[in-house]
Amino acid sequence: VVHHRRVTPSDPASLETADTVALLDAGAGRRLDRFGDRVLDRPHPGALASPMDPDAWPAADLRFDRGPGWRGRLDPSEPWVVRLATLTVELRATESGGVGFFPEQLENAAWLDAQVRRRATRGAQPEVLNLFAHTGLLTLVAANAGAAVTHVDAARGAIAWARRNAELSGLAGRPVRWLADDALGFVRREARRAQRYDGILLDPPSYGHAGRRTWRLDTDVVELLDACAAIASPDAFVLLTGHTPEYDAERMASDVSAAFRVPRRALEVVALELVARSGARLGLGTAVRLGR
Ligand SMILES: C[S@@+](CC[C@H](N)C(=O)[O-])C[C@H]1O[C@@H](n2cnc3c(N)ncnc32)[C@H](O)[C@@H]1O
Repeated sequence: VVHHRRVTPSDPASLETADTVALLDAGAGRRLDRFGDRVLDRPHPGALASPMDPDAWPAADLRFDRGPGWRGRLDPSEPWVVRLATLTVELRATESGGVGFFPEQLENAAWLDAQVRRRATRGAQPEVLNLFAHTGLLTLVAANAGAAVTHVDAARGAIAWARRNAELSGLAGRPVRWLADDALGFVRREARRAQRYDGILLDPPSYGHAGRRTWRLDTDVVELLDACAAIASPDAFVLLTGHTPEYDAERMASDVSAAFRVPRRALEVVALELVARSGARLGLGTAVRLGR
């Protein structure tokens, strides 16, 4: 069973507000997003239908196309800042067409906040491991809720960006270890050190590079989940997100169920979907959650 749920502006626990981050429309292989005071028009191969609000698209400040890159009326090399409730993040128009922020992760923010706070009220500070942590949105949510976070990403640039986001959010003084490392290699070493985590977050890409090591989702994810299970405390919460059709909800859920030895029914499987102001829908993958 896949629950279809979306983050709505009225969700009080959500970080999203209607004015800061919103999908405006999607279609013809593209998406139109508002991120703070910028509107961006980017390719999205999954947006198969026609745009539902063609009049919205001329509002784009920047447009990305493979080849020429970013073009438009604003300087694409200028970072800008977006406020999400108590958090502040810096966005940048990257060479690959990204912005350092995935709005579909907002769906997981309220859940993560609740998981951390539930443990924090029981006494000891929860230890959270964030793998493929990118620019750190989930690290900020966990730290803000009272966790000690180990933030792991292979790219030094992403680590620096995430640290800047922590500073902008007033969380620089929180207990966060910022590690430029390979996710699988790091987890194996933590197992040898008998380290334990109360919550593990994984947002693996299809492919990735960490030094000489290559990450391949299709061949490596089961091994990584097994390695994570070995460093999970007995009632650890787990969040696995996937963004490629090849690694579908059923496979993700059965991999988490097998690795953490929990029945399939203990897992919440959420379709990550953004619904545009225009009514257009974008499927952006799946979240599998083991909450406690
Ligand atoms: C956030 S994930 C990508 C998931 C994304 N939401 C998507 O749509 O595909 C990408 C991050 O994983 C990092 N990464 C790639 N390979 C890695 C590895 N072997 N170990 C740790 N981090 C890695 C990248 O540097 C990047 O910041």
